[in-house]
Amino acid sequence: MTNVLIVYYSLTGNTKEVAETIAAKFDAFVEPIIDSQKRSGFFGYLRSGYEGMTGKRAMIKKPEKHPEQFDLVIVGTPVWAGGMASPVRSYLANHPPHPAKLAVFCTSGGPQNKKVLQEMVKLAGQSSVAGLGLSSTDLESAAFKDKVDEFVIQIKAGMVDLAA
Ligand SMILES: Cc1cc2nc3c(=O)[nH]c(=O)nc-3n(C[C@H](O)[C@H](O)[C@H](O)COP(=O)(O)O)c2cc1C
Repeated sequence: MTNVLIVYYSLTGNTKEVAETIAAKFDAFVEPIIDSQKRSGFFGYLRSGYEGMTGKRAMIKKPEKHPEQFDLVIVGTPVWAGGMASPVRSYLANHPPHPAKLAVFCTSGGPQNKKVLQEMVKLAGQSSVAGLGLSSTDLESAAFKDKVDEFVIQIKAGMVDLAA
């Protein structure tokens, strides 16, 4: 399986690190989602949290890759105030991967991230072959690499029909 696209948004680097770790397991294209909103400083943080919590979308740059042309698209987001990051919401709403298969991951400060994975899948309008939520505790420990390995195994199991 070589036709894999990894798409992510990352403000402070955690989701980027996970995206790159996953990418190393596949021969994948990696595409960051670029938004133009200022997100630094107190007001940037506040705005981002507000957008995450209220389900808002953000203006994003047109992606280079067409997700629907891949076999599998893996989308990653940070958790913002209990929701997905607004640029990722825009991406999934405007560029749903179907007929490509979908896998989702998120990074968060705390452990409550299942809701965000569910929100991503719902917005994309298709089921996912795998989901991964990583907390800051996971990211700081060896559990991170093990969880990524499990995620990759789940993805490969969900792709068997394409590998056949
Ligand atoms: C605006 C904002 C809101 C956040 N809200 C939450 C939250 O509700 N729950 C949580 O566990 N972590 C929250 N975090 C922490 C991030 O989800 C976590 O640090 C994530 O790994 C950041 O990913 P990034 O480095 O790719 O941007 C928030 C961070 C920011 C900037």
